[in-house]
Amino acid sequence: MTASTTDTDRRLGAAPDPALLDPAERLGLDELRALQLERLQWTLRHAYENVPHYRRAFDEAGVHPDDCRELADLARFPTTSKTDLRDNYPFGMFAVPQDQVRRVHASSGTTGRPTVVGYTERDIDTWATVMARSIRAAGGRAGDKLHNAYGYGLFTGGLGAHYGAEKLGCTVIPISGGMTPRQVQLIRDFEPRVIMVTPSYMLTVIDEFEKQGMDPRASSLEIGIFGAEPWTEQMRREMEERAGIHAVDIYGLSEVMGPGVAQECVETKDGLHVWEDHFYPEIIDPVTGEVLPDGEQGELVFTSLTKEAMPVIRYRTRDLTRLLPGTARPGMRRMEKVTGRTDDMIILRGVNVFPTQIEEVVLRTRGLSPHFALELVSRGRMDHLVARVEARPDCPPERRDPAAREVEKGVKDMVGSSIEVLVVDPETLPRSLGKLQRLTDSRERTGA
Ligand code: DLL
Repeated sequence: MTASTTDTDRRLGAAPDPALLDPAERLGLDELRALQLERLQWTLRHAYENVPHYRRAFDEAGVHPDDCRELADLARFPTTSKTDLRDNYPFGMFAVPQDQVRRVHASSGTTGRPTVVGYTERDIDTWATVMARSIRAAGGRAGDKLHNAYGYGLFTGGLGAHYGAEKLGCTVIPISGGMTPRQVQLIRDFEPRVIMVTPSYMLTVIDEFEKQGMDPRASSLEIGIFGAEPWTEQMRREMEERAGIHAVDIYGLSEVMGPGVAQECVETKDGLHVWEDHFYPEIIDPVTGEVLPDGEQGELVFTSLTKEAMPVIRYRTRDLTRLLPGTARPGMRRMEKVTGRTDDMIILRGVNVFPTQIEEVVLRTRGLSPHFALELVSRGRMDHLVARVEARPDCPPERRDPAAREVEKGVKDMVGSSIEVLVVDPETLPRSLGKLQRLTDSRERTGA
């Protein structure tokens, strides 16, 4: 993996030297589909034989692993949801004896029990491989210094990025999230080329540079690999311009592996290539569960193809996107940037609104910063959505009202629903240290 890298190859915007790619990244479509089928058949058997939940679910649906003769047969198998994982808390979804589980991670579990996931030694190696591949697709190379500000701990971001960066041959700076002034200090002193962090925390870091009187564009950073939460093209532009970097998207979820399930390539920045040799994607209609053809928007569903400790069969991510043909890696399909989750969707007087739609409008409005918070309130019998948006430090006071009205109109035009916008002073809204919680629900509950 640590093939020596030439300066020419470090040029961003150009395709990487094919010799640096994993063999799987160069597979033709037929070869990839054959590999997927073989791995899928193994996974279905492994899950059926070793996880009581899957045996029960397959039996109830009247399907058996032997029924999977082609990839399309997967649609006959039942989907798996977060509730299934919670019902089997903590280790009931594991398919190997505990002494083969080298590590566990868990989701924060803001509602109910956390979901626990496990990895064998080989799973950890697979994860490091796809993460190394992701960092390379983002433009990172062996020998680069990489500032890893994803949180270390039960969250998969920190350790997932860490092992991948080491495998690629980078020097990792394992700073984790928080202590923002120190983040800036270490970026200045250690001069990393790559930063990995949530997009919302990157904004906090950029602000901190400016607060300390420094131009973030003058830093050593050239590449930012941002994920763990949705972000828009407008946010990409904001970060690229203010920090003088290439901003690329990384996607993943703990139930399927962690970060590194899909990655945007820096030379195209056109959505995220799913590492299909390890994760098989489907898009389904979130209401009917029907599989939709490539190109159609719906809920993303993943089946792991090589995971040993915790195989997942048709895991419903709740993330909304669509699948598109491969570009920079022709064999691997792309998923469009995730615009939202079914659970982030705000249903406002019958109309669906996603926080990313509001982000898009806020960021194209002169005078407004990307920092905003949403609150759902009830007034009488009606729900209202209030968006508090920070003015940029250089926004003149008389610009605030017109900016608020522009956002209200922009959101109305885009989604068809009215919201209330308040422009507030800079530095008054809470900052994210990791994943940002944009929405507070302050509606009065009536009835039970
Ligand atoms: O967030 C893994 C990760 C860490 C991904 C670091 C990327 C970088 P979970 O905590 O299990 O895992 O949360 C997974 O986060 O279902 C999406 O809703 C959201 N998410 C992750 N990446 C993106 C992204 C990690 N690039 C959930 N764009 C997923 C939009 C994302 N949403």
